[in-house]
Amino acid sequence: MLRARGLVKTYRAPAGPRIPVLDGVDVDVKAGELVVVAGASGSGKSTLLNLLGLLEDADAGDVWFADEHVSALGRSARSGARGRFVGFVFQSFLLLPSLTALDNVVLAARYVGRSGPETRRRARELLEELGVAERHEHYPPQLSGGEQQRVAFCRAVLNDPPLLLADEPTGNLDDANAHVIAEALRRRAAAGGAVVVVTHRPEAFVPATAVFRIENGRLEGYPLKKEVAP
Ligand SMILES: Nc1ncnc2c1ncn2[C@@H]1O[C@H](COP(=O)(O)OP(=O)(O)OP(=O)(O)O)[C@@H](O)[C@H]1O
Ligand SMILES: [Mg+2]
Repeated sequence: MLRARGLVKTYRAPAGPRIPVLDGVDVDVKAGELVVVAGASGSGKSTLLNLLGLLEDADAGDVWFADEHVSALGRSARSGARGRFVGFVFQSFLLLPSLTALDNVVLAARYVGRSGPETRRRARELLEELGVAERHEHYPPQLSGGEQQRVAFCRAVLNDPPLLLADEPTGNLDDANAHVIAEALRRRAAAGGAVVVVTHRPEAFVPATAVFRIENGRLEGYPLKKEVAP
């Protein structure tokens, strides 16, 4: 479902030093798999996820969704592919402050040309599942960080994307709610989705298909945590 080969990324601050972040990263995630990538703060987790989700361009390397060589597409075809394939849970949520929680979730469907009562029903169902249904009329500034995070999760999965990329999706959550998100991610994989989570807390997502760690720009096996889902 997702394949990446040789991803390289270096940031260059205008006057500052080069910041090499990724130095040749390969990723394979099949439908039905949950892959976890751990790593210290600043190790390149968000950068990797942004490259996998076509939100940023790599300096080198390629990305395929299904068997489509999406990193080779032009800007507008790439954003079309992103719309068809990817649900993204942003580390900083990126909810629109002028829309209610429910409308933020429903907005995801608008981007792919869907709307209507069925979509709203599904959005409410997801908010219910994540325990934030009673906040559906609230605006993001009136929500706690953890509540915003759960709303952002609902938005990312509303369209049932075949590929779900989640950046630190439990970063603002207590253990109970982290468990709710981890279970929701596992259910998506069990239902045939391909799921990638980047986090500094990999324990929360085990059992997973595989757990890796970013270190010095490379993806290493993480044997301690390598546990195969039943
Ligand atoms: N747009 C940018 N310009 C310059 N440097 C950047 C940019 N984005 C990220 N970096 C640098 O690249 C490195 C990796 O950043 P990244 O956000 O991928 O880390 P991370 O592993 O997600 O960290 P965290 O756990 O804190 O979210 C960091 O040193 C960061 O400062
Ligand atoms: Mg990050």
